[in-house]
Amino acid sequence: MSRRLAIVGSGIAGLYAALLASDAGADVVLLTKGSLEHSNTWYAQGGISAVLPEPAPGDTVAAHIADTLRAGAGHCNEAAVRLMCIEAGSDIAALQQFGVRFDSGPDGGPALGLEAAHSAPRILHAGGDATGARTAGALIGAVLARAARGTLTVHTHAHTTALQERNGRVTGVVYLQDGMLRSLDADAVLLATGGAGRLFGQTTNPAVATGDGLALAVRAGAAPADLEFFQFHPTCLVAAAAPRPGRLDGPLLISEAVRGEGAVLVDASGRRFMKAYHADAELAPRDVVSRSIALHLAKLGNPGGHVYLDARPIEQAQGAGFLSRRFPTLTRKTLDAGIDWSRELVPVAPAAHYWMGGIATDLHARTSIPGLYAAGEVACTGVQGANRLASNSLLEGLVFGRRAVEDFLEGSSAEPSAPALAPRSGERLARSAAGADPHATTALSGPPELPHASAPLPRNARPHLAVPAALEGEADRPILQGGSWPSSFGAGGAEDGLEPFSREGLRSLMTAKAGVLRSGELLAGAAGTLARWAAVARPDAVPESADPAVHEDHNLLLAAQLLVSAALARRDSLGAHYRSDETVETIPLRPKASLSHD
Ligand code: FAD
Ligand code: SIN
Repeated sequence: MSRRLAIVGSGIAGLYAALLASDAGADVVLLTKGSLEHSNTWYAQGGISAVLPEPAPGDTVAAHIADTLRAGAGHCNEAAVRLMCIEAGSDIAALQQFGVRFDSGPDGGPALGLEAAHSAPRILHAGGDATGARTAGALIGAVLARAARGTLTVHTHAHTTALQERNGRVTGVVYLQDGMLRSLDADAVLLATGGAGRLFGQTTNPAVATGDGLALAVRAGAAPADLEFFQFHPTCLVAAAAPRPGRLDGPLLISEAVRGEGAVLVDASGRRFMKAYHADAELAPRDVVSRSIALHLAKLGNPGGHVYLDARPIEQAQGAGFLSRRFPTLTRKTLDAGIDWSRELVPVAPAAHYWMGGIATDLHARTSIPGLYAAGEVACTGVQGANRLASNSLLEGLVFGRRAVEDFLEGSSAEPSAPALAPRSGERLARSAAGADPHATTALSGPPELPHASAPLPRNARPHLAVPAALEGEADRPILQGGSWPSSFGAGGAEDGLEPFSREGLRSLMTAKAGVLRSGELLAGAAGTLARWAAVARPDAVPESADPAVHEDHNLLLAAQLLVSAALARRDSLGAHYRSDETVETIPLRPKASLSHD
């Protein structure tokens, strides 16, 4: 009988892993808490970075590696970066086999975009600025085709609430569906639950990004890593500041690819300010641009304000109509928001975007707990270092989602890494999915250690076993009996004058005290408030509630505590973690090769 892999999450990492594992004959069950389209992946705009067999003139895999390491502020796991950049071509070819179509240029080859801190155009995109929706859409189509044939099982609206464990290994998941608590046994679980942008008041992330996978894994005793590093995207639309405020159904990120095409940032007086902060100006690494905007606004006495993205130079250089052809979705959405960006400035400010930290994993996506893999944004392989290079996230989800599946198929079921494990070539599945290997690479070597792993939570410090003992062995059962479960958050904290917990309160607190600019004092204040909320809510335990929102609240509160505690512990500034009260990082002012003619 084939071994079962339970995959949680239907973003790029979960969908791709599900397809590869299913096609290789595994018994795959894919669970996701909304519909299959609900994910960060769906909203990705800029694209996927990869150096293909026929790269842009002068581009090389070595340059992609160097750019990734440089953007990561010296904090990357170099072995992980190397293999991600080397193996990228195979996974892109496999994606195409699953039906993903990338935009092509005038010569019929792939159209390659430039984004900040990349030394050459190497960003594959689809539908102009609809890369995520096109990619996820094709993968979802492939998943549903297999589900219809009975070779893959999909559970939507299945909100995973806990990991099932037995004798120190993960043996399945517990999930809420239709008000019922259900359990699913598996030989291994792959968490692909994405990030936690919803920790902050301003975010580019959709509603599903509530840090669930991290919380579940930490409760089960998995080691987290690099949680102090949260990336803020510099250019999220400030809808309220539009000239004729319109209607948008969520946050709107204005892709870095727009700056890659020549848009610039100006302040309220129309002054282009980025050159004063970094030699690469608008195309400096993302953490630098976000921080520069925040520092500039503080200098202007308007710390909560916004700056403007001026896309008009693009039309001036490329001709009228270029913006709507290259960025159709953004053109439509900015118009919906009340802005004609071919003629008007776009008000923007930094917003929480991507968590570099996560569940620590090795080069095969294995966590510190047997039976548990993690891939994509929920994981910390170390490839993103202290600041992710643009368009490297979708790529990471592909490469490490596939590596998790390869490890599972080899029968290891996510045994925690040990230095004695043999290195593997790691490209077999992508090659077989792609039919041929257009980008043969050398086998990678290097010890598969957990990168950057912080000390795991002592297992005996876990407040609760993830699964109530009474549930083990049972299939489905109703969780709500006459609505008798207590609300887990109650009026926590009101008695000491503190506002009781609310998700909005948490998000405001995190934005004010653990955002782009941090200090020991701000972080200590945040930690105190979080601790008082946590004393009532107990986010270290799985809440006994049939309401998925209560589970998300607990997960966000635990994730916030973990982030703030990691940020307090890192007293220096590095990458996206900027402490105004401590050592200020110095960024080497080296213009990128491709921009040196500017
Ligand atoms: P996600 O795509 O976030 O998917 C997570 C999945 O897990 C979702 O389906 C979710 O519903 C599910 N889930 C979560 N919790 C549970 C639970 N408890 N139970 C069951 N299911 C659960 N990166 C790039 O590389 N290039 C880009 O151009 C780019 N543009 C971006 C634009 C925007 C607006 C945003 C928000 C992000 C962008 N990123 C981009 C980042 C990138 O999209 C994400 O980091 C990446 O898609 C994460 O993929 P993932 O598979 O790890 O998780
Ligand atoms: C963007 O299009 O600016 C987002 C790209 C990314 O997050 O990698």
